[in-house]
Formats: sequence, structure tokens, C-alpha cells
Amino acid sequence: MCGIVGYVGSKNAQDVLLSGLAKLEYRGYDSAGIAIYENGEVKISKTVGRLAALESMLADSPLSGKVGIGHTRWATHGKPSDENAHPHAGCASDFAVVHNGIIENYQQLKDRLMVAGHRFVSETDTEIIAHLLEEHWTGELFATVLKVLKEVRGAYALAIMTQRDPGKLVAVRKHSPLVIGLGQGENFCASDIPALLGYTRDVLIMEEGEIALITDAAVECFDLSGRPLEKKVFQVTWDAVAAEKGGFDHYMLKEIHEQPRAVRDTMSGRLSEDGKRVTLPEIKWPDGFVQTWDRIHIVAAGTSYHAGLVGKAVIESLTRIPVDVEIASEYRYRDPILTAHTLVIVISQSGETADTLAALRISKERGVRVLAITNVVGSSVAREADDVIVTWAGPEISVASTKAYTTQLIALYLLALYLGQERGRLGAEFVADFLEDMRELPKRLEEILGSSPWIERTAKDFSVWEDAFFLGRGTDYAVALEGALKYKEISYIHAEAYPAGELKHGTLALVVEGVPVIALVTVDALYEKSVSNIKEVKARGAHVLAISWAGDEEIGKSADRVLYIPRTRAELAPVLLVLPLQLLAYYASVARGNDVDKPRNLAKSVTVE
Ligand code: G6P
Repeated sequence: MCGIVGYVGSKNAQDVLLSGLAKLEYRGYDSAGIAIYENGEVKISKTVGRLAALESMLADSPLSGKVGIGHTRWATHGKPSDENAHPHAGCASDFAVVHNGIIENYQQLKDRLMVAGHRFVSETDTEIIAHLLEEHWTGELFATVLKVLKEVRGAYALAIMTQRDPGKLVAVRKHSPLVIGLGQGENFCASDIPALLGYTRDVLIMEEGEIALITDAAVECFDLSGRPLEKKVFQVTWDAVAAEKGGFDHYMLKEIHEQPRAVRDTMSGRLSEDGKRVTLPEIKWPDGFVQTWDRIHIVAAGTSYHAGLVGKAVIESLTRIPVDVEIASEYRYRDPILTAHTLVIVISQSGETADTLAALRISKERGVRVLAITNVVGSSVAREADDVIVTWAGPEISVASTKAYTTQLIALYLLALYLGQERGRLGAEFVADFLEDMRELPKRLEEILGSSPWIERTAKDFSVWEDAFFLGRGTDYAVALEGALKYKEISYIHAEAYPAGELKHGTLALVVEGVPVIALVTVDALYEKSVSNIKEVKARGAHVLAISWAGDEEIGKSADRVLYIPRTRAELAPVLLVLPLQLLAYYASVARGNDVDKPRNLAKSVTVE
């Protein structure tokens, strides 16, 4: 996730771009840059670091012009650095391109362009666009961009300008957001509405596969085959604060709603062209290594640890490699048994959690290969691990982790499939079917989001209680742990997750008349046992919310309320199950009037012990 902004008009473009980028920093902040058309040339100023670093650079040597594009980056391909910051130019430096998204086939295109003599200065996927523009130049920017897009696969929002055809911006949207702002004698484009609000409230929302030609006098929209489109002007009525949260009341709710997109992004570029195999191009194990792992340690903290618990179940079931999941603060002090055949996987949203980093270092000191799953490309964990799978969730601002967890699960499924496939354990058909089901997840997540009002009412009812219990068996238990953590961290209600069969060994004593119990019931093989556990707590007066598969007609006879989630393959249930639990915690917190995004005593990233 990155932020892009573009301007054509009569104002000083540098000021407009910097003010727009300031509103988009929530989308990424590891580097920033702008390009401005000045005295017949496209001039670029960019730097690693937050926007403030770019601002002080421009204070010393400003760019002056009326047309420009800007970018604030959240690294995906290539570490945060001056070279990898956007905008990107081609060999002759007369184009400027800013991009949000992932170009899936960039490596093939880059190889071809290099053979043709193009010189690359960055490690980004974006830079290929600038070189392709040089290759396909038709004498006119808009037509050239259309030609270039025919070669490019992936997700992108782009803003492009060139000194060869000045006074114009071309903006494109495919699977990454982009809006156009309409002014008087000036027009804008941006990843999100807040960047525009200082200038206009008239916007065109670009849809999938749309391209716009923007000048100071007009905005024309087309589909990707160049057919003109009629678009309706949308009047933004939100205030600036609400707009920064995309119209949501809190970042947490916004991030919960971003999960369908985040899941799609985290899969993209990691499958074969026909979508039937996992390729995971970022894993660079030496030849034959994939066969050698005989034990896996997953080490993490907090929500990432809970993702690891699901990872254990999936990896063990798809590969039969034994997996231990450990809390980083324990692992680092307990002298773990590591051999040359142990693979250590560290999971960390921030990539900076002190305990997780220490666990990584201990493993590396012992000569063990470490694979990191993280959301931050330039983080310490990403830099020090041998291999890195980046979760393309985009920056997570709310302290309570939501989209990072879901994308960690996706990374773990891909890894489990990859291991199973490369070790010859999984048949081609099984992998292809599994991936097909994974591709359906965003749609299913959208369906569950539709139940938000129902979940909100339930959360309100539950929020008057000082306790809540989350029950599950198998992977349902792993998700119950995450549900209870979400609930307690933002609603401040005491919440405990229990393996449903273990209740009778203690916790059952806490179940009193009316207390909310949330029972997860998606493990078919254990269905009857889970129903018995529901009856067990019901008999003690609990009020049970069961979450089960759509089509389960029996569960309503035992539980007080039922939330149905759409069917998917059993292994993928955690991705869907966690969403209602996140919403339940969110609405309980709102009902109690808490500071949802900044819960008391907690921090987003814990960089000390
Ligand atoms: C903190 C955050 C949690 C997070 C945990 C691990 O406690 O509040 O949301 O799960 O750290 O963070 P990491 O960045 O390593 O995933």
C-alpha cells in the first residue's frame, strides 16, 4: 500500500503535492518523492524516510512548476532507499511514474528490457513501467500508456507524466484505489479523498480497469481499451477527520474492511501464471533444501503468535512436518533444540518486536535458516532473516491487529502448500483446488462484512458483561484465542479462550447465568463434541453465540444466537471466522466508549523487552 497524488493547474504543484501526501502518509511512510514539470523538464526529488525528510530537502532546493505527481511509499519490492523511492524515471529520465500496487510479471519484463539495453536503478517493480513507456512511445502519452498496460499484469494505481507530452497526467486504476478531484482550471488525482479535500469536494471515483487523461482544463475517463466513459461526480460531505479513516469511525474498522483487498494482494505474484501452483519467488533456499526440513519452529508474539498456531495446524496437515509454535519471549531464554534440519519461521507485523528479533538472532547464531513473515519490508526482522515473505496488508495503524493477522494466515497457507507441493506430498489437483478456494476468500469476507449490523447489536448486548468466554476445538480454538485477545485488548472486558473440551477442568466454574460464551463450530469432525460443550455451558445459564457454517440447521437448537459464515474448505475457516470476532470486539469497545484505536497500556510495536 502506498499513496499517490497528482496535480495539473495554476498553483505551485510542489505545495499541492506535499499537502496531499501529508494526508496519505497513513498509506505508507518509508520514503517519499515528487516529480514536477519545470522549465521543459521532468525533475524528481525523492528520499528515504518520512515525508518530513522530503519537505526539508525541498525547502533547500524547491521545484517550481504547475504539473506534478507525488508518492509516499510502503515498500513491497525492494527495501526503503533513495533509489527505490518513487517517482521512477526511464533511462532518459523524461518520464515520471508513481505506483501503488504490485506488478506481478515485473521480473520477466525487467529481464527482457535489460537484454534490450535498459538500465535499471532501483529494485522496484514500478520502474519497469517507465522503461516500457520508452519502448512503446507513440508520440503521445495516453496512447502509450494504453499500450504499456497490455503487457503488465497485477494490481496498480498509477499516475504518469512526461516532458515529451507536457501539461498532462495519465492516471490508471486496477485493483488499487484512485480518485480524481475536479477543480476550476485545475484537476487532481489521489489514492484517497483526504488528499483532495483542501482543494475540492467534487470527485470521480475510478473503478476497476479505468484510465483518465487529466489536464488543467478537463478530465476524460476511458476503459482500458480506450473507449470513453461517462462518470458521475461524487460530492464529498465527510469532514476531514472522517475522510482520513475512509469514512469509517476508526482505523480499526477501516482496516477490518480492508481485509478482502489485503488477502488478494498477499496472494498476488505468488502463484504460477495459471494460478494452479504456488511459486513464492521470494524464497531462495539452496537446491534440495526444501526436502531437508524435519522440524519447524514458529516464533512470534501477540496476534502474530496466534497466526502461528493456525500455521502449525495447516503445515502439519499438508506436509506432515512437525511444527512447534512458541512465544518469542519464552523461546529466547529457553535454549531451544535446533539442528541443521530445523526451519525457524518468525512472524511479526512490525518486524521490530524485541523478543521476536532476539529469537531470530539466536536462531541465526546457531546457524539455522530463518524465514520471516512480516508486514514491513525494511524492518529489522526483514533485514536479518534469510528469506522473507511480506504480507501485503499495508500499514496497520490501529493498535489491535486485524488485517495483518489475516494476511499472515494467507502467507502461512501459501508456505504450507509450497512445502507440500515441492516435497511431492500434495498432488497438483489438490493444490489447484486449494488455491481456487483461497481466491474466493475476498468474496466470502465481503459477505461476512454484510453481517456487521447484526454483530453490532450482539456486541452491544454482550458489552454490559465483565466476562466473555471463547470456545473452540482444533483450529477453532486457535481462532478463539485471537478472538479473546481482540475482545480484551480493546473492550477491557475479561475474555478467555478455552479448548472446548478442557472447560470442565476449571473454567466451567466461572460460567454463571447470562454470561456470554462465543462458540466456534467449524471443525466438522468435532461438530458433535462442540455441540455437547455448548449444552454444557447452556446448562449453567450461559448465553451462547455460536458461529458455524451456513447450512448448519442443527446448531440453532443449542445456541441462543447463531452467526453463519459462508462455506469454504475446512482448513480456510480461520480466515473467515476471525472477521466476526474482530467486529464483535470492535463494537463492544465502541459500546463502552473506549479509545478503540489506542487501547490503554498497549503499543503497536513493542521494541523493548
Ligand atoms: C503488540 C501489538 C500486537 C501485536 C504484538 C506483536 O503487542 O499490540 O497487536 O500482535 O505486539 O507484534 P508484531 O509486530 O511482532 O506482530
